[in-house]
Amino acid sequence: MDGQLSAITARTGAVGLIGHPVDHSLSPRIHNAAFRAQNVGLVYLAFDVAPGYLADAFAGIRALGFHGVNVTVPHKEAVLDLLDEVDPLAGRVGAVNTVVNHAGRLKGYNTDVTGFAQALKRVVPGGAQGLHCVVAGAGGAARAVLAALIDDGAARVSVFNRTPARAESLCHAASAWGRARCEAVSERELSVVAAHADLLVNATSVGLGAEVKDSPVPVDILHSGLAVVDLVYGAGSTRLVREARVRGARAVDGVEMLLAQAGQAYRLWTGNEPPMDVMRASIERDEG
Ligand code: ATR
Repeated sequence: MDGQLSAITARTGAVGLIGHPVDHSLSPRIHNAAFRAQNVGLVYLAFDVAPGYLADAFAGIRALGFHGVNVTVPHKEAVLDLLDEVDPLAGRVGAVNTVVNHAGRLKGYNTDVTGFAQALKRVVPGGAQGLHCVVAGAGGAARAVLAALIDDGAARVSVFNRTPARAESLCHAASAWGRARCEAVSERELSVVAAHADLLVNATSVGLGAEVKDSPVPVDILHSGLAVVDLVYGAGSTRLVREARVRGARAVDGVEMLLAQAGQAYRLWTGNEPPMDVMRASIERDEG
């Protein structure tokens, strides 16, 4: 970046978040704090884009010369059709959460895969090697989680989703990504499967925004032998994380993964090493 000023000028470039909803997002705080700290001439804004407007939003990104965007729920898969190029990892996962505008060519990346692997280490320092993992959700975020778990050597991955057909199709795709046994499980099977599992990941959007009191799985399946990674975050801990901790489980919410993927997006947009301390301090909050 050649911008030297933190103040917004005629040369300030735009980056942002495309999602629905986005008003809970901490990404503007994280990235703007980092841009200011390093005098990068970019500003980050959040845009609530309903699904029917995604193509229009991307036409706008091209027309207005945005430097790049993050993409979140529910657009991480649909966005692939709107890009000029997709990084191989994002292509394998079938989901993009970061887009870089390379002189008019939009290229998609997935920084969720390594972001999740970093967050996982906070509750399971040895990673997923040999573990039985239960994943709630079957959208773009879940695809990134499965890719990370399988790459890390998970033994078995059980996928539970509100729409069972999506879980089946994700497991079918993920079976080709490595040696882990992947299976879709019904709500009825979930408690039996979870009783012997090592790790539970929430990759649904349940708990987000207005759903903050909800849990993606019945909380009585949580137990002290289960590490929990919730991809959702809010003003305080999510219900899933609170209930898991009450039962003696190690649990982290989506802030860890958010910071890890944000650092990588920042690196892609600026070429700079991300100021992780600044990024973390920008969202420091009270545990609720
Ligand atoms: P992303 O690409 O960010 O993962 P997504 O593709 O919209 O976003 O996926 C959202 C996930 O959250 C899906 O697994 C979705 O379940 P469906 O496949 O049944 O739609 C899940 N989800 C969203 N709202 C939910 C709710 N109220 N209850 C249960 N699952 C929900």
